[in-house]
Amino acid sequence: MTNTPDDQSALMRRFGPAALITGASDGIGRGFAVQLAEQGFDLILVARRGDVLQDIALDLGTRFGVNVRTLAMDLSDPAAVPELLSLTEGTSVGFVVAAAGFGSIGPFLDQDMASEINMVDLNCRSVVELSYGFANRMKAERRGGIVLFGSLVGFNGAPFAATYAATKGFVQSFAEGIAAEMRPHGVSVLSVAPGPVGTGFAARAGMQMGKAATPDMVARSALAALGRRTTVRPGFLAKFLGWSMAMLPRWGRVRVMGVIMKGMIGKDKSRNPGRDANAPATSG
Ligand SMILES: NC(=O)c1ccc[n+]([C@@H]2O[C@H](COP(=O)([O-])OP(=O)(O)OC[C@H]3O[C@@H](n4cnc5c(N)ncnc54)[C@H](OP(=O)(O)O)[C@@H]3O)[C@@H](O)[C@H]2O)c1
Repeated sequence: MTNTPDDQSALMRRFGPAALITGASDGIGRGFAVQLAEQGFDLILVARRGDVLQDIALDLGTRFGVNVRTLAMDLSDPAAVPELLSLTEGTSVGFVVAAAGFGSIGPFLDQDMASEINMVDLNCRSVVELSYGFANRMKAERRGGIVLFGSLVGFNGAPFAATYAATKGFVQSFAEGIAAEMRPHGVSVLSVAPGPVGTGFAARAGMQMGKAATPDMVARSALAALGRRTTVRPGFLAKFLGWSMAMLPRWGRVRVMGVIMKGMIGKDKSRNPGRDANAPATSG
């Protein structure tokens, strides 16, 4: 059984009135912003590029009549999540989507170490802090929903994306753990574990991707699964590879993943944006 378009307002009743989305300036986070605005959620949109967030806020506010607030911040900065929690104190956020994240590809020893550590800070540390802050508030309200992002590459080691896959394995395990703890408190936690999704993610990571799911499809699958499952694998490729690899021993899965990731190393590999010199300062 899934949440159908007809009972989408049930989602709003269950998790509304406000949703906070990180990584909302692009890709999957932006896809969630559109779908949640469509359902009437007021939004708090978080990412580094405040100007992009403001354009999205204007668009969604005009189209759907919802209130949209933007917070431009670099979530890899250890000061960011505490500031975000303080800026949202007193707002009834019943829904959190933690989509901010980035990846890298290529041999581990060729990676820029500062960027790899920055990835761990963003993909793991900020997700734990954000979940802790909002899950506590949701527990007090006895309701809420938290959507975190694993990945198809997060179920075992992945040569040529070793750090990225490990960050996604961390989130997968973390989501499963807190999902079980939070369920009795009326709070649903979901790990979304897609295969390739057609966003700017691949170009930023220096990857080349073939067939990809769309951000809208990922958001739709996640909204349908929230409260019903702990993990959703949106897209045919994520399901197919997940099921077929489940037959293999773990070392076999690592080997297959290594072949896949090696084939995804872009010819014109541009470095990821983890340390973006132009990242804007935090603003309300
Ligand atoms: N695309 C895929 O193929 C794929 C597959 C599996 C899992 N995922 C996961 O899905 C999530 C979303 O990916 P996506 O494809 O939507 O990526 P994307 O298109 O590159 O978008 C990433 C978002 O995160 C924000 N962001 C990046 N660094 C940030 C920072 N330091 N502080 C705050 N915001 C930051 C970016 O905005 P600013 O640049 O404005 O900060 C952007 O809004 C990620 O966790 C990713 O690991 C993606």
